[in-house]
Amino acid sequence: MRVLVTGGAGFIGSEVCRHFISRLGLDVVVLDNLSYAGNLASLAPVSSSPRYAFEKGDICDRDTVESVFRTYEPGAVVHLAAETHVDRSIGHAEVFVRTNLLGTFTLLDVSRRYVERNPGVAQSFRFVHVSTDEVYGSLGAEGAFTESTPYDPSSPYSASKAGSDHLAKAWHRTYGLPVMVSNCSNNYGPCQFPEKLIPLMILNALEGKALPIYGNGLNIRDWLYVEDHARALATILAKGRPGETYNVGGGNEKTNLDVVRQICSLLDRLQPTDKSYEELISFVEDRPGHDQRYAIDASKLEGELGWRASETFETGIEKTVRWYMDRADWWRPLREGVYSGKRLGLIGQGVA
Ligand SMILES: NC(=O)c1ccc[n+]([C@@H]2O[C@H](COP(=O)([O-])OP(=O)(O)OC[C@H]3O[C@@H](n4cnc5c(N)ncnc54)[C@H](O)[C@@H]3O)[C@@H](O)[C@H]2O)c1
Repeated sequence: MRVLVTGGAGFIGSEVCRHFISRLGLDVVVLDNLSYAGNLASLAPVSSSPRYAFEKGDICDRDTVESVFRTYEPGAVVHLAAETHVDRSIGHAEVFVRTNLLGTFTLLDVSRRYVERNPGVAQSFRFVHVSTDEVYGSLGAEGAFTESTPYDPSSPYSASKAGSDHLAKAWHRTYGLPVMVSNCSNNYGPCQFPEKLIPLMILNALEGKALPIYGNGLNIRDWLYVEDHARALATILAKGRPGETYNVGGGNEKTNLDVVRQICSLLDRLQPTDKSYEELISFVEDRPGHDQRYAIDASKLEGELGWRASETFETGIEKTVRWYMDRADWWRPLREGVYSGKRLGLIGQGVA
C-alpha cells in the first residue's frame, strides 16, 4: 500500500516516513511545501529508498493535491501538514487558518472524490487526521482529556486544529469518508524544529545562552517520544475504526521547569562545564493565553488497539539530548538561518 504523508518533511511527519518505510515496508509519498519547518535533511535516511517519493506543494492548492492523487493513487492519507507553533499563531494567525482549515478541507474533499471515483479503493481507504490535545483546552490540577472531553481551544493554533478536527469528522459523517482523528500530547525527539521548548533549551544550553522559561514554569505538559507517536499512527491506520477519535499520550506529565532542569542535569553529565547548566535558566514574560495543564487518557488506544508507549520520559529525553549533541549538522543551518532562537508570540511583536 502507498501512503500519502502530508507534512512529511516536518518533525513528526519525517519520523512517520522513516518508520513506515524502514520498519513497516510501506510505500510513502510525501506532500510538503517545505515551509520554514520543513527540512529535507530529516528525510535523508529514506530518500534513496525505492519506497519513497516526494512532491513539493501546498495542501491548500486543489490542483496540486488532485495531481498527487492521480499520480500516486494512495491507499491511505496520514495528514500531518500544518502550521504548528502556538507562539507564531499569536502574531500571525492567518496562515494557521489557511493551512490548518483550508488545507485540511482540500485534502478531505479531494480524498472523498477520489474514493467515489475508485470503487477499488473504497473499502480499504483510510484518512488519519493528526491533531493535538490542545483542542481540549486547559485542565485543572486533576483529571485527563478523554475522547469525549468538550473542545475548548485557547490559541489561534489550537482553534485552527479544532476546526480541522470538526471538518475531518464531518467528512466521515456526511460523506462516509473513512476518517480517524488522533489527538496527541506534546511530542519530543530528533528532528524537532528548534523553536519548540525542548530543542530550544538543549541548543541554547549547548551554546551557553539563557534558557527562557515562560511565567513561573509550572505549566504542565504530557510528553510523548516521537517514535511512539509514529507507532501509534501506524496502529490507528491499520486497526482504527473509521469515524473514531483516539487520544495518544505516554503518561509523562512534567512542569516546563522540570523538563528544563532534567535537560540541564543530563548536559551536566554528558558535557560538563565549570558551572551547572541550570544557572542559565531565566524566567520571562508568560505566553498570552498559556494553558495551565494538559494530560491525556490514552486508555482507548491502549485497550482497543493494543498500542502502548515504549519510552519513558527519562529514556526518551536522554536519546533526544544525545541526538542534538551529535547532530549539529542538522540544527546549525537552522539556528544560523531561518530561526536563531528569538522570543516569539508576544502580542504586537510579530514573528522572526
Ligand atoms: N509537535 C507536537 O508536539 C504535536 C503534538 C500533537 C499533534 N501535532 C500535530 O502533528 C502534525 C505535525 O506536527 P509537527 O510538530 O511535526 O509539525 P512541524 O511544524 O514540524 O511540520 C509541519 C510540516 O508541514 C509542512 N507544511 C506546513 N504548511 C504546509 C502546507 N500549506 N502545505 C504542505 N505542507 C505544509 C511544513 O513544511 C512541515 O514540513 C501537526 O498537524 C500538528 O498539529 C503535533
